[in-house]
Amino acid sequence: MEQKIADIDRQHFISFEGIDYSGKTTQINLLQAFLQKKGYSVYVLREPGGTVISEKIRDILLDRNHHEMSERAEIFLYSAARVQLVSEKIIPLLKEGYFIIADRYVDSTTAYQGYGRGLDLEMVKQINSAATFGLMPSITFYMEITPEQAQQRRLESGAGADRLEGAGIDFYQRVFNGYKELIRKEPDRFRVINAMQSVNSIHKKIIDLLEDHL
Ligand code: TMP
Repeated sequence: MEQKIADIDRQHFISFEGIDYSGKTTQINLLQAFLQKKGYSVYVLREPGGTVISEKIRDILLDRNHHEMSERAEIFLYSAARVQLVSEKIIPLLKEGYFIIADRYVDSTTAYQGYGRGLDLEMVKQINSAATFGLMPSITFYMEITPEQAQQRRLESGAGADRLEGAGIDFYQRVFNGYKELIRKEPDRFRVINAMQSVNSIHKKIIDLLEDHL
């Protein structure tokens, strides 16, 4: 059955965005603990993933051997994973009163597939709207680091590159610029965080901004 989102309260639906190695996940874990202490039931979801089907799609997407994946196949796979996540988890959990923290959401598709891969932005917009049923977070924390800083962090971590991380610095520069453009277009939803500060000061900043928002 098709989802109806008009009567869903989005106040407790928040997302985190940023290029890889921006430190999103660390901050999400800290925020989850903070909100739980405050008495909220919190659910963290990562994209692509978060359901059995979406995790399987994630494996296809991030497989280093899938060099031949076309850009359109890529956007439809991310979006298929998202439809499943929104229908199976996000909508029902919001209705049950959960606080949802999304580790990436539809802005990642605009930044990576739209600006990064160069897919037509109008097409991306339509696919995104179909994949989310139009349901958007009430606030989005953008963890800002430059592609050079991100690359430095990856080298220091000693991690290998997955299929996307193999895409090179030019790709990440386009993604970075894409996020800037998104923030310019929706200044009310985005909160930009300097992700090069210490873990603790970032956490404090996020809490302040979130408390203002709630
Ligand atoms: P993660 O490393 O934050 O789990 O994200 C997985 C990768 O997938 C990351 O490189 C960003 C990319 N991605 C997209 O290209 N488009 C999307 O819509 C999403 C959600 C992620």
